[in-house]
Amino acid sequence: MRSDRESVWLFALASKWLAFSEESFAWSVLIIVLTWLFMTLVCWAHPGGPAWGKFRFLNRSFLSAVNKRIPGPRGLPVIGSMNLLASSLAHHRIAAAAQACNSERLMAFSLGHTRVIVTCNPDVAREILNSSVFADRPVKESAYRLMFNRAIGFAPYGVYWRTLRRIAATHLFCPKQIKGAEDQRREIASEMVTLFAQHDRIFQVRQVLKRASLNNMMTSIFGRKYKLNSTNNEVKELQALVDKGYDLLGTLNWSDHLPWLAEFDPQKLRVRCSNVVPKVEHFVSRIISDHRAKSNGETEDFVDVLLSLQGDDKLSDSDMIAVLWEMIFRGTDTVAVLIEWILARIVLHPDVQRRVHDELDEVVGRSRAVDESDVTNMIYLAAVIKEVLRLHPPGPLLSWARLAITDTTIDGYDVPRGTMAMVNMWAIARDPQEWPDPLEFMHRFVTKEGEVEFSVLGSDLRLAPFGSGRRTCPGKNLALTTVGFWVATLVHEFDWLPSDQNTVDLSEVLRLSCEMANPLSVKVRPRRRLSLSPSHGK
Ligand code: HEM
Repeated sequence: MRSDRESVWLFALASKWLAFSEESFAWSVLIIVLTWLFMTLVCWAHPGGPAWGKFRFLNRSFLSAVNKRIPGPRGLPVIGSMNLLASSLAHHRIAAAAQACNSERLMAFSLGHTRVIVTCNPDVAREILNSSVFADRPVKESAYRLMFNRAIGFAPYGVYWRTLRRIAATHLFCPKQIKGAEDQRREIASEMVTLFAQHDRIFQVRQVLKRASLNNMMTSIFGRKYKLNSTNNEVKELQALVDKGYDLLGTLNWSDHLPWLAEFDPQKLRVRCSNVVPKVEHFVSRIISDHRAKSNGETEDFVDVLLSLQGDDKLSDSDMIAVLWEMIFRGTDTVAVLIEWILARIVLHPDVQRRVHDELDEVVGRSRAVDESDVTNMIYLAAVIKEVLRLHPPGPLLSWARLAITDTTIDGYDVPRGTMAMVNMWAIARDPQEWPDPLEFMHRFVTKEGEVEFSVLGSDLRLAPFGSGRRTCPGKNLALTTVGFWVATLVHEFDWLPSDQNTVDLSEVLRLSCEMANPLSVKVRPRRRLSLSPSHGK
């Protein structure tokens, strides 16, 4: 009997306690959720959005009036302004947001947990790009997984990165090396002319330009020569790997900015990278082994250079693979994309084409093909290329962002360590305050007697399509030499005409480079008697 009563008491107490603990548990959860919600909203309310708010909160400078706040959009709670970069026209969206917030000089925004600043102003761009504080690149998982952290582009700022830049500058990008590859560029130009001459109807130029560019890099880097018109498996394999790498590196990875997503790999980027990397390793290792097996000991290409390094400069095989792969990767698309834009403008503006033809007739004459040395005398063509770089920079956001290594001040604002910095070169190059009639394609870079030529190599930030400062593009002179010579050759050999159905569509799409959304379709008409020999009529 007693024990029955005890059981009832026990049961009543237990159920009371359970009810109480369930209730208190529910309360605790509610309080946590409300606190989280409150904090999320408070952080989100900060100019620039949640990442900036969180930083100020954690550093107890949230209410401080001492720190001026960088203006910028809040975006959405938690994710901030991911929509700005998750677009194929990110440079347009960022420019529009900066205008809306009246923050063209410096705008703050959040990509999930990442604090970002971006400028559409040349003076502030100089401050960022030329500061040693911004000599690093932000961590990008796809770049790491594709081995680029061991190559120049994503290597952390330091001794290793400096060594790689020195090696590349001495053995690949110096004037002597660039000049040394003249014959190979001439041969490829000649093959392009032969291929284009065979088209008596409308055709697209993009694939040929990409193949030409890839063949050029494969010769300089790997010492492998291929015919442009042959379908070689090795070239096809490498082109496919470059395309996949481009796709992976050009995609905004949400997990880079929302670490709690990383576990799930929602865009399958990790899986896709791990499919590409073994293929790249296999491909490049095979080429390295072939070079090792070669007995003549001569330094003919960049693989030979890397293999000949001694002492502190000596690279491991995996580092060599990363460096070689990056060079192929970086050097291929950028050049092809720029030439397609130049040809598009030449087709779209017959008066511009006529003036380039006149200049070619004067400098070269119709009796022979263009020689690379002619290009230095072609002032008008150089001006056209600069105008195309202004309106269609292949890297409108300068391709890869920078990362603040320490706390710093930009344009009078405090910028904490770990902030990612971007420059919207596309917006700067179209700013009406810097350029009269900015949307017009004009002869604005033609220098008159006694005038100093405008340099696009990074000294004038109103137009620096190759970036500036320590991380500036090391391949810019090689790129400009190749582009100048190939365009001069193609325009010398042909009249470039629009296709009947399509006018030239200047819509853009930003992948890793910014290319024409609709590939250029053209017709060509030979201008001078064509010889299809390798030197096409020299
Ligand atoms: C039209 C052609 C090209 C354009 C518009 C271009 C543009 C750029 C830009 C904007 C950057 C970032 C610069 C910065 O952060 O300040 C860059 C970096 C780089 N580019 Fe180019 N590039 C071109 C061609 C090439 C070529 C042909 C190569 C090599 C074969 C190359 C190799 C690199 C490398 C390795 C980096 C990383 C530099 C570093 O982080 O230290 N680029 N390029």
